[in-house]
Amino acid sequence: MAFHHVCLFLSSFLSIAVAQNDSLPKPFSFSNSQIWDGNDGKWSSFLVRVGTPEQTFRVLPASRHGETIIPIAEGCEKMRNAPSNCGDLRGSYVFQGTESDGFQVNETQSWHQIGIYEMGIRPEIGFDASALYGLDNVGLQVANSGGPTLGNMVVAGVAQPTVFVGQFGLSPKPSNFSGLNSPQKSFMQKLRDDNHIPSVSYGYTAGAYYKIPKVHGSLTLGGYDQSRFTPNNITFPFDADDDRPTSLTVQSITAQNTLERTVTLLLDATYVAIDSTVPHMWLPDDVCDRFEKSFGLTYDNKTDLYTINDTMHQQMLELNPTITISLGETSDPTACVNIVLPYGAFDVQASFPYYKEAVNYFPLRRGKNETQYTLGRVVFQEMYIVADYSQGQFSVHQALFPSTVEEPQIKAIYVPGEEPKPEPKPEPTTNTKKPTPSTSQTASAKAGISGRAIGGIIAGSIAGIGLIGFLAFFLLRRRRRNRQRSSKTNSEHNLKLERDMHSSQASSGMYTPKGFGNGFVHGRTLCATEADDAAQVFEVDSQHRRLHELSSQSTCIVHEIGGGERMKVRTDVMQAGRRI
Ligand SMILES: *[C@@H]1O[C@H](CO)[C@@H](O)[C@H](O)[C@H]1NC(C)=O
Ligand SMILES: *[C@@H]1O[C@H](CO)[C@@H](O)[C@H](O)[C@H]1NC(C)=O
Ligand SMILES: *[C@@H]1O[C@H](CO)[C@@H](O)[C@H](O)[C@H]1NC(C)=O
Ligand SMILES: *[C@@H]1O[C@H](CO)[C@@H](O)[C@H](O)[C@H]1NC(C)=O
Ligand SMILES: *[C@@H]1O[C@H](CO)[C@@H](O)[C@H](O)[C@H]1NC(C)=O
Ligand SMILES: *[C@@H]1O[C@H](CO)[C@@H](O)[C@H](O)[C@H]1NC(C)=O
Ligand SMILES: *[C@@H]1O[C@H](CO)[C@@H](O)[C@H](O)[C@H]1NC(C)=O
Repeated sequence: MAFHHVCLFLSSFLSIAVAQNDSLPKPFSFSNSQIWDGNDGKWSSFLVRVGTPEQTFRVLPASRHGETIIPIAEGCEKMRNAPSNCGDLRGSYVFQGTESDGFQVNETQSWHQIGIYEMGIRPEIGFDASALYGLDNVGLQVANSGGPTLGNMVVAGVAQPTVFVGQFGLSPKPSNFSGLNSPQKSFMQKLRDDNHIPSVSYGYTAGAYYKIPKVHGSLTLGGYDQSRFTPNNITFPFDADDDRPTSLTVQSITAQNTLERTVTLLLDATYVAIDSTVPHMWLPDDVCDRFEKSFGLTYDNKTDLYTINDTMHQQMLELNPTITISLGETSDPTACVNIVLPYGAFDVQASFPYYKEAVNYFPLRRGKNETQYTLGRVVFQEMYIVADYSQGQFSVHQALFPSTVEEPQIKAIYVPGEEPKPEPKPEPTTNTKKPTPSTSQTASAKAGISGRAIGGIIAGSIAGIGLIGFLAFFLLRRRRRNRQRSSKTNSEHNLKLERDMHSSQASSGMYTPKGFGNGFVHGRTLCATEADDAAQVFEVDSQHRRLHELSSQSTCIVHEIGGGERMKVRTDVMQAGRRI
């Protein structure tokens, strides 16, 4: 086929172009704040600087979204019975010589306000609040310490204590606002596009307050820290739903040395989101019941938390149980990763506004269905995750806790086709299980050629441009088709919303999952689908479930649901990706 010749010619051409520029960016190792934050546990936080002049906050890494969420000053000011150090508890640093209750919008000159929206972080488990959105400068780490600072990043100022400590979003998903025309780039995507990191990927472990000595969290953007985990060669494909790319089946949960000795706590394999956005584990009722018995827990129906009284707490410390969570797509033990957690990981306290005085509790919550089941930050204390958006895959590992004198071993994750020539591919991302069939591997590698590489070519040969464009388009389509074929056919995940207006992301090596939303939607846009062959329109609810089918021709009905209101605020019809 003539096409193959063109392809061969072009691929050699491209490798030359890539090889010419060997100054690929290095991964960014995001230093932690050395401080433990949280009202629902002790979490190792990271520093962000927001605005001009800069206001500094400690935040927690969150896998669900791509935004910078910080407490807003009005929150502490208006909260009833707030402790006097409320601002500090929520992660605000002293600003211009005085204690800060939170972000002061009137004090930043670079702020561009967007408006008040529901954040939609994890509404299905009530981890959500409304926030004042705007664009502002966001920098990582303390000033002048080498942390990148990017302009016009999405910042959410949250008053409500539901999201008590701020968050740094690790997802490359853009944010969408019903009042703005274009989706706003996430911090991670901008880092990659501005050539600060080699790929949209990260490695993260939350740290462990209960270890002696305490070990802080570790976050690497564009790579991972090999010194912080035991490698395994099991890689999982992203879920087709880009709201929850890192999802896995829990095959079993067992515990040793409990009140009932060795117990199996989870009997039926359960599909869960692996999500550092929320602190707790959300598991089915029957699993919670078994935890309750084996760990001497008491359910507090006012806070929906499992508390543990002093007697039981003391007994648990003596028994020192361990919990083993087995994660894998099948029950095949060679394809499973076991994460072992000591009791200390679950020995946490809840304080204001849950309780006036700190109370010992067990970070487990009763989940009703698959949309709620989650392994939250508590598990990340003993788990290291490597998420690679350019290939749409991730891996999880037992975390290691090297002493502080040991050097980190930061490894880069490259977009396929952009690796520096002599170096082999990083180990944990090579594997047996690929999200795409092997026939599409070359296609996906070629489609991953970055804007930078293409830029190099343009400089070299203007004649090639049209060809590249055509080819990238062609290959991209092929890759997308293959992905569609290989992805889940679960009816919940079956909603397709893929439009060519988003192919720019795919051409920069970005994984473009099928599924709802090419963006993180604020003001809840509910939309429907253009299927491969026949156009179909569905109305869906905020959990992306289909409410009822509607018939139409290549159009897509968009329902926007504003603020905290239920259902219809506005209904538009979209055609070929545009609002009519
Ligand atoms: C090579 O990449 C660096 C950034 O990594 C960039 O500043 C430089 O302009 C590039 N050079 C060429 C020739 O493309
Ligand atoms: C910003 O608002 C706070 C009160 O919320 C006030 O104390 C401060 O003076 C204001 N700053 C400016 C520059 O207006
Ligand atoms: C994965 O690692 C195990 C040992 O850790 C090894 O036995 C197995 O062959 C490896 N599989 C592949 C495909 O590399
Ligand atoms: C502590 O909790 C356990 C388990 O819920 C319960 O059996 C026991 O009575 C409680 N003890 C006290 C002193 O409340
Ligand atoms: C909570 O539990 C208490 C006692 O166990 C009970 O009296 C009360 O009705 C419960 N409240 C709710 C909302 O279930
Ligand atoms: C899951 O459970 C929650 C809480 O009961 C409920 O609001 C939601 O509709 C359920 N979702 C599905 C998909 O069943
Ligand atoms: C994002 O916003 C733009 C402009 O309002 C709209 O065209 C697009 O469909 C939105 N994307 C999603 C996923 O809702």
